[in-house]
Amino acid sequence: MPGRRPEPERVLNSEAHLISAAFALGATSVKTLSPAEEKLCRKQILSYDAATRDWIEQYIKKGNDPLGDAFSRLRSPELRRPKGATYTPATIVLAMVRWARGRKEVPLRIVDPGMGSGRFLLAAGNAFPNAELIGVDVDPLATLLARANLNAMGFAERASIHLGDYRSLKLPPIDGKTLYIGNPPYVRHHLIEPSWKQWLTEGAQRRGFRVSQLAGLHVHFFLATVLQAKAGDFGSFITAAEWLDVNYGSLVRELFLSELGGQSIAVIEPAASPFADAETTAVISTFEIGSQPTGIRVKRVSGIGAIEPLDSGRLLHRSRFETQSRWSHLTRRAKDIPSGYVELGELCRVHRGQVTGANRVWISGEHSAGLPISVLFRSITKARELFGAGTILADSSGLKQVIDLPRDLSVFEAEDRRAVDQFLRRAKQAGADKGYVAENRKTWWSVGLRQPAPILATYMARRPPAFVRNRADARHINIAHGLYPRESLNEEVLLSLVKYLNTGTSVVDGRTYAGGLTKFEPREMERIAVPTPAVLLQQ
Ligand SMILES: C[S@@+](CC[C@H](N)C(=O)[O-])C[C@H]1O[C@@H](n2cnc3c(N)ncnc32)[C@H](O)[C@@H]1O
Repeated sequence: MPGRRPEPERVLNSEAHLISAAFALGATSVKTLSPAEEKLCRKQILSYDAATRDWIEQYIKKGNDPLGDAFSRLRSPELRRPKGATYTPATIVLAMVRWARGRKEVPLRIVDPGMGSGRFLLAAGNAFPNAELIGVDVDPLATLLARANLNAMGFAERASIHLGDYRSLKLPPIDGKTLYIGNPPYVRHHLIEPSWKQWLTEGAQRRGFRVSQLAGLHVHFFLATVLQAKAGDFGSFITAAEWLDVNYGSLVRELFLSELGGQSIAVIEPAASPFADAETTAVISTFEIGSQPTGIRVKRVSGIGAIEPLDSGRLLHRSRFETQSRWSHLTRRAKDIPSGYVELGELCRVHRGQVTGANRVWISGEHSAGLPISVLFRSITKARELFGAGTILADSSGLKQVIDLPRDLSVFEAEDRRAVDQFLRRAKQAGADKGYVAENRKTWWSVGLRQPAPILATYMARRPPAFVRNRADARHINIAHGLYPRESLNEEVLLSLVKYLNTGTSVVDGRTYAGGLTKFEPREMERIAVPTPAVLLQQ
């Protein structure tokens, strides 16, 4: 009696039971069984009667995955770890499929890399009733279960399953979009064969990317997807979140910003337990191959219920990702940003001024007399120059000059060259060619000042920082930060922004900076909440 039965996964008490159930559910109807799967089929120990078969099939049709659940119960986490087999909860699968469904384009083909029991293919098969369904996995028991699930759902005709490695999957080109969706396996690098590490290195280098030998298998899957896909294909992967920050994740970050065409990042905190047997921070990324969106959506949720819609997070300018080597902090929202406000980093990049390594040498004085004017740059060299400037620095004539020589000294005419050489001799005597900073410059004599920043700011003092509109085109050394607009801001907006910042109150992760805070790193300054340009214009 169906009503009195336990859930099907409870009666699947051994791998032999699982194989028998898969066979009964018509796994062999999905083309084409590999020899390894045929061998497994021979291990079936019982044949299910039609009523039991129908009962399991109905249960699958309601959106359950009794075969996958039994697989995860029968194989301990230790046994599943070498292949990274952690199956995805339905809430997450459905959220990712709904994201795909919400897009304009309808995929002609759906690829699930490392499909396990086929959860993504089943949900996507429902959402896209005409799409071809392609799954690939290295585990013959998983592929057999996926075949059974696909047949139970009535998808056998349009499904093809490949027992093999996703990295060697070759798909024919099609005249339409492919959706890549799934949960690439999390396997650490020491379990990855040297030949595949070599594959990663060569594949990445061919595309001009650096890669670390410590990269986990999910990094390989991102590269394999980029190599396989064509412009306009799109997708969503859930993975461990490490690649956002660690060195070996740089390949994924670089792909995300280039060929993968990353669109959004949703971090799921461990408290949400996205996976039953893995205490991990997960990230769901979405992408459209070849796209270069100006803004990337980010969010961070502590409960799975809050992940939808997947791409509903804050829009951050892509240059913030391009300029930073760690990304997860970008997904943390400065608390309570009111509407009409954004983080300063959305409007401006904040850069600390150049370190000279020896101010006594590189700030001009008697020792530099005779140097050509072209190498002398009026610069902010003391915080008090900004504190004294008020809102606008209109004249730089009272500022000291920083000596910034070109790397190539052959550009000077004879007389200037003599003065430069004389100065360099003195600089050497003063030890300016020695030390960490000088020795790490391309040429020790070239300080490399940044371009004038439209807004300058102090960042370390026993008082709130001073922000100054730099109309005098002064340069700055490392006692100040320069604010460089990401996109051009007109004079009115710049002034209004400076005035706002000088009120000394803004919400930064819930703290106000007036008074208390004495030091601001560039990234912290970028997190100050400021009015949007439209709101600034009304102030
Ligand atoms: C994290 S599980 C995801 C399973 C399924 N997509 C889901 O989300 O429920 C990763 C799957 O990738 C498979 N796998 C591991 N290495 C693989 C490889 N090199 N190529 C294809 N599949 C692989 C594992 O057997 C496992 O089933």
